[in-house]
Amino acid sequence: MGERVLVVGGGGREHALVWGLLRSPRVDQVIAAPGNPGMAAESGCLCVPGTSATDVDAVVALAEREKVSLVVVGPEDPLVAGLVDRLTEAGIAAFGPSEAAARLEGSKSHCKEFLLAHDIPTGAAVSFADADQALEYLDTLDAVPVVKADGLAAGKGVIVAETRTEAADAIREILVDGRFGRAGSEVLLEERLSGTEVSVLAFCDGADYVVMPAAQDHKRLLVGDRGPNTGGMGAFHPSPIADETLVETVARRVIEPTLAGLAAEGRPYRGVLYAGMMLTEAGPKVIEFNCRFGDPESQVVIPLLVTDLYEVLAACVDGDLASLDVVWADQAAVTVVLASGGYPVSSSPPAAVSGLEDVPDDCVVFHAGTEIIDGAIHAIGGRVLAVTAVKATLAEAANAAHAGVAAIEFSGAQHRADIARETAQVRT
Ligand code: AMP
Ligand code: GLY
Repeated sequence: MGERVLVVGGGGREHALVWGLLRSPRVDQVIAAPGNPGMAAESGCLCVPGTSATDVDAVVALAEREKVSLVVVGPEDPLVAGLVDRLTEAGIAAFGPSEAAARLEGSKSHCKEFLLAHDIPTGAAVSFADADQALEYLDTLDAVPVVKADGLAAGKGVIVAETRTEAADAIREILVDGRFGRAGSEVLLEERLSGTEVSVLAFCDGADYVVMPAAQDHKRLLVGDRGPNTGGMGAFHPSPIADETLVETVARRVIEPTLAGLAAEGRPYRGVLYAGMMLTEAGPKVIEFNCRFGDPESQVVIPLLVTDLYEVLAACVDGDLASLDVVWADQAAVTVVLASGGYPVSSSPPAAVSGLEDVPDDCVVFHAGTEIIDGAIHAIGGRVLAVTAVKATLAEAANAAHAGVAAIEFSGAQHRADIARETAQVRT
């Protein structure tokens, strides 16, 4: 009998995890909660659509009922809510940081204190619970700061204000109007950094770590890095900016002291540590930590993993990463996201998706915002699909992924035609 694994979540990142786990000779079945139609179509995957990823009790009950040997938690909310602690207490192995370690993503002011205490490079910031004090402090600053809600705000809690008025409005919206509820009980006013953004992700087992191939994300909605910020419209590897030297620098200056600091504080970090970096003139600085895999970075990185994904995740949980030789394919990978019409501002009515069967075999299509309505796949909002291709060169991978995207249609579909093309040249 092989292993049964529960993947918590229902987005493109979790589909990539399911896809990777099903390639492991050790895994018999993957259960996904809630999963999505793309995962349900994978042979060996069973979705439990009624189970929300944030319903900690329901996920623990499902893991016990299904007698899984490992739970892999995709999104940040259940991690910050302590899902891994609850599973561990129930005697179930779970991949992801504890609630105490996930606070690095769960509270931006806590994260900032931690970074400063451990001398990890980051922008200067001050946090406030009182709007008047925050506004008074704003007046004393020479430059307009970035305004951040302290807690999890589904990616919407960071306001990169251009003017003092915009910054003041953001402070009032968060602290007075309560736009983000409890997640906005404090704001952080942070020095605005400039430079190129790069993310460095590492598998961590509490003490040791293995960095992943750097995948460069495209956060803006429109071609040429214009338009509003999104969760990510596409990603690629290798990146000319995030080369091996840079990744090593971030590992040494950021990942290592973070793991050592957390271990010393009695909250060792197991799971994926995602360091969002700004490459400033004064060197790379942390702009945020995430306590999970990236989306769409996972759809690039997981297909490049040669080592059995189950073994890597299990080694992180067991504190045994040092005994595993984690090997990555020496290839290029590109993923292009198809988003629904109103994304990221408004929702759109369900739209039938056509052409999925015409996507060439050298692409993998990961589902995110899809649902089966009247027997047919529909786009139901947000990021809908991510099309990944892995090839010898970046140009080939980009061509293949974009050809895959061209086969797919639904009303209002948006994608960036420049993912890993113009942007694969040096971006600033
Ligand atoms: P976060 O949710 O912390 O990743 O922030 C969202 C986006 O806001 C980041 O990807 C950056 O583009 C931008 N951002 C966050 N902090 C800063 C900063 N200190 N300076 C400039 N841009 C920032
Ligand atoms: N792609 C950005 C993130 O996963 O946070």
